[in-house]
Amino acid sequence: MLGDVQPIVVANRAPLTLELADAYRNTPERLVRGAGGLVTALSSLAASTRALWVAVARDDPDRILAARGDPAELVTDDGTSYRVAFVQPRPDSYELYYNTISNPLLWFIQHYLWDLAREPIVDTATRHAWQEGYVRVNQLVADRVVAEAKASSQPPLVFVQDYQLYCVPGMVRAQLPDVRIQHFVHIPWPTPMSWTVLPKQIRDAIVQGLLGADLVGFQTRRDVRNFLLTCEENLGLTVDFRERTVFFEGRVVWVRNYPISVDVGGLLQQAEGEDVRIEEERLLTWRPEKLILRVDRTDLSKNIVRGFLAYERMLEDHHELHGAVQFWAYLQPSRQDIDDYRAYLGSVLSVAAGINRKFSSGGWTPIRVEIDDVMARALAGYRQFDVLLVNPIYDGMNLVAKEGVLCNRRDGVMVLSENAGSHEELGDFALTVNPFDIDETAEALYLGLMMDAPQKRARAERICETVRSADINRWIALQLQDLRDLLKV
Ligand code: G6P
Repeated sequence: MLGDVQPIVVANRAPLTLELADAYRNTPERLVRGAGGLVTALSSLAASTRALWVAVARDDPDRILAARGDPAELVTDDGTSYRVAFVQPRPDSYELYYNTISNPLLWFIQHYLWDLAREPIVDTATRHAWQEGYVRVNQLVADRVVAEAKASSQPPLVFVQDYQLYCVPGMVRAQLPDVRIQHFVHIPWPTPMSWTVLPKQIRDAIVQGLLGADLVGFQTRRDVRNFLLTCEENLGLTVDFRERTVFFEGRVVWVRNYPISVDVGGLLQQAEGEDVRIEEERLLTWRPEKLILRVDRTDLSKNIVRGFLAYERMLEDHHELHGAVQFWAYLQPSRQDIDDYRAYLGSVLSVAAGINRKFSSGGWTPIRVEIDDVMARALAGYRQFDVLLVNPIYDGMNLVAKEGVLCNRRDGVMVLSENAGSHEELGDFALTVNPFDIDETAEALYLGLMMDAPQKRARAERICETVRSADINRWIALQLQDLRDLLKV
């Protein structure tokens, strides 16, 4: 698939995480796939091309893995093997880089999450975190990429990932002017004005860092447009909107969208596994007549609270559904060192508890919240839902939308936010909602539960066809095609 090149994938997260043995739960040490859409998608590329993966050691389990080799040959419990080179920043630098700048600052800007009348407050601490955290960790990563690129017997092809590493392409280019670099941004790129909450020096460094790449990839056409506009309006750069290029420091930088996807074959095989069968049997012991499902990290962008409020509204309007329906929120804990995330998880739990108090009767509980991260359980849920709620405030793509319908066995209906990147591809076959509109979401949940079988089947089939024809291999192939056509790789 790739010619004579050494692919180097560069991401904050490694493709796998080490789960330490837990004597209390009687579980052994395991290497499992890391959380989030980025790892889901990139793992296929890394495994199929024998790419080297450069990652940041985030915590003690990562540091244990780093001690196992440099790069470490790591094999997950499903038998996939990866070569991972860990960069090990000081914990205080990592803290500033991850918990002050990347999340929340950049994540919140890019998902439009700030309540601007109050936050963010940009001050000396922000500048310090930028310089001593973000820039420092990015430089460590870039230096490692340069070292690996120099050591490689084949020409390197560098694939940098996401918002944690915006400065890396520019830093690598400064040391290796001719290296080929692609940067893919997995999350939304907002309007130029959204960036102006940051001091000019920081927001320009972000864009200039990215423009160190030859090709900058985004999820949707809207992201591409917003990026080109940002280059023009915020930095005064020359942009060609028809060609989708930016001129920067004597080079042409191509900007394209590649909707990320899932490994269809691998996922369907995994969904047939023994562990999923066991989880599904367990689920069948409690599943109601009608099951609404959501599967998400406990992230503010996922809009979990409004999802519950919409469900509450539906229960108010449709007493006939009491006792027959249940909303299962299967949630993976995320970024709990950040106050806003902790507080958000608190609201999620208290709103669900309030709705349960209000409506529970005769052994029926309207909402079941489970906070855990077991892929087999999520897959069992995917197979069983009648309605899948995917209502993010804004989301780069949202792979649950693709995974969920693909694995479902009941022609389940998807209620999908118009602000999820996946809406560009799947919106016509889902029930579209404005994620802020509780009434509209309540109505969509109801319509999804009541839809007749032929219509359900037709919609589910169209979504599956779309995902099958645009799976992760196509995502990779389109990028490689552009690298060949545009950069003559
Ligand atoms: C999203 C981001 C990824 C990130 C993932 C999980 O998918 O685009 O870059 O890895 O969330 O978040 P975490 O902070 O746990 O890595």
